[in-house]
Amino acid sequence: MIKAVYPGTFDPLTKGHLDVINRARKLFSKITILVAHHNEKNPLFTVVERKKMLADSVKRMKNVNVDSYDGLLVDYAKKNNIRVVIRGLRAISDFEYEFQMALMNRKISPDVETVFLVPDESFTYLSSSLIKEIISVGGDISHFVPRVVNKYLKEKLKKES
Ligand code: COA
Repeated sequence: MIKAVYPGTFDPLTKGHLDVINRARKLFSKITILVAHHNEKNPLFTVVERKKMLADSVKRMKNVNVDSYDGLLVDYAKKNNIRVVIRGLRAISDFEYEFQMALMNRKISPDVETVFLVPDESFTYLSSSLIKEIISVGGDISHFVPRVVNKYLKEKLKKES
């Protein structure tokens, strides 16, 4: 039984993230999607909202659960007996940052391995910031995010306007 954690800010979850989750859940017995607080990024959604959107989007996936954490990723992994960190690689431009993070995590905790998964090529151009930019000027993002996220984004914008 190999457990894995897929960490990220998920502000918001996109179909690209979901594609990575779908690939990971076929490889590992249990996947925890870990919402990082990441306040430096000044997220649009609170941790509670990001967790809710994720939980709604993966509710039919039996071996996937959602959690949040505000400390070191490898500490969370250790505490929960998880030895694999999943990260998605969309393009070469992701590589340097991901490589640095994987090596830093290994330095802090040599038992934790990072596994990179490549999302479907139709999602390689997606990012959460682009989604937020498109919706803020009234664009349609329904092709890029799960239905539940689309609903949340629209409600958030309505509240803020
Ligand atoms: N589909 C669509 N977008 C994707 C994607 C995919 N498959 N994979 C990554 N992205 C995008 C995200 O949407 C995000 O876009 P944005 O910058 O426009 O918001 C960007 O790529 C990177 O986001 P994410 O994957 O969420 O990573 P992150 O850089 O926000 O988060 C953490 C990195 C949270 C995993 C990392 O900082 C961490 O582990 N923090 C905990 C503290 C810690 O242990 N720090 C030491 C790390 S060495």
